[in-house]
Amino acid sequence: MATNRTFTMIKPDAVEANNIGSILGMMTEAGFRVVALKYTKLSEEQAGKFYDIHRARPFFGELVEFMSRGPIVAAILEKENAIEDFRKLIGATNPEQAEAGTIRKLYATSIGENAVHGSDSDENAKIEGDFFFSELERF
Ligand code: CMP
Repeated sequence: MATNRTFTMIKPDAVEANNIGSILGMMTEAGFRVVALKYTKLSEEQAGKFYDIHRARPFFGELVEFMSRGPIVAAILEKENAIEDFRKLIGATNPEQAEAGTIRKLYATSIGENAVHGSDSDENAKIEGDFFFSELERF
């Protein structure tokens, strides 16, 4: 059963570009309710653990270095059909292929530095949310 929740991160490139407010605004404007929210920074080890599924990919080292180079905003968001609607809102992984008006089209600069993360399934949304948040931090 769909949980109606997804997990997102505003990545270091978007934080560095001072786009936290604009990006969170697009998420809430699109009807997502904030369940949990955290401004934090990943160590290389934590970034590697979060993206463990990509460990064998050629871009893994670059991804870990990027995701640990500065603070990020982590959030659990809630809305009906959350996973699919959120992926539509953020657009394709590669901003060159992202549709006009999507968060990545507006704020991402490359396939690696793509401004935001969005969970690809209910199962991963739960795993990723649990990575950052205790039950006491969800409202
Ligand atoms: P995300 O949706 O967070 O999931 C995996 C991340 O790996 C992805 O966004 C990008 O930041 C990164 N990534 C995916 N493909 C590539 C690639 N070809 N080169 C560099 N980074 C990539």
